[in-house]
Amino acid sequence: MYRKLCNTTGCCIKYLLIMLFICSCKGIIDLCSVEEISYKTHVQPLINGKCKSCHNNNFAYGNLNLEDYNVLKNPKVKKQIIEVIKLELGDPNLMPPNRPLDECQIQLLENWLTLGGAIDK
Ligand code: HEC
Repeated sequence: MYRKLCNTTGCCIKYLLIMLFICSCKGIIDLCSVEEISYKTHVQPLINGKCKSCHNNNFAYGNLNLEDYNVLKNPKVKKQIIEVIKLELGDPNLMPPNRPLDECQIQLLENWLTLGGAIDK
């Protein structure tokens, strides 16, 4: 089987690329269809990918460290986050600046914050 698929170098590379593609697709989570929101599985990776570069333990714009989930429990912060992620493109307060989250990401983050922002163990 291996021999048949990989009888030429070009074919072999194609085969590897297809496998790589299939593997990478499996890692993508459709945030719109998440029923039970998990901090570790959904929220943290989203914050790490979209907010952490500017709001982290070492450096935090606006004095807001989103790496610390205790901060996310603060009702004022929750409200602020829900507001700034939903602003129009071009609004200077939009977060992340000029690179809005997609609808599913916004929905997930808002749902999680509105539901109390539970942290799974
Ligand atoms: C490219 C850097 C950058 C990224 C990425 C970023 N922010 Fe910000 N954030 C800022 C800056 C700059 C400010 C303004 C600080 C100030 O005015 O003092 C800010 C301020 C904020 C504030 C406070 C707003 C207010 O009214 O005081 C919130 C809430 C916030 N960001 C949430 C987020 C969230 C949630 C994400 C990810 C979805 C995010 N930010 C991603 C740079 C960033």
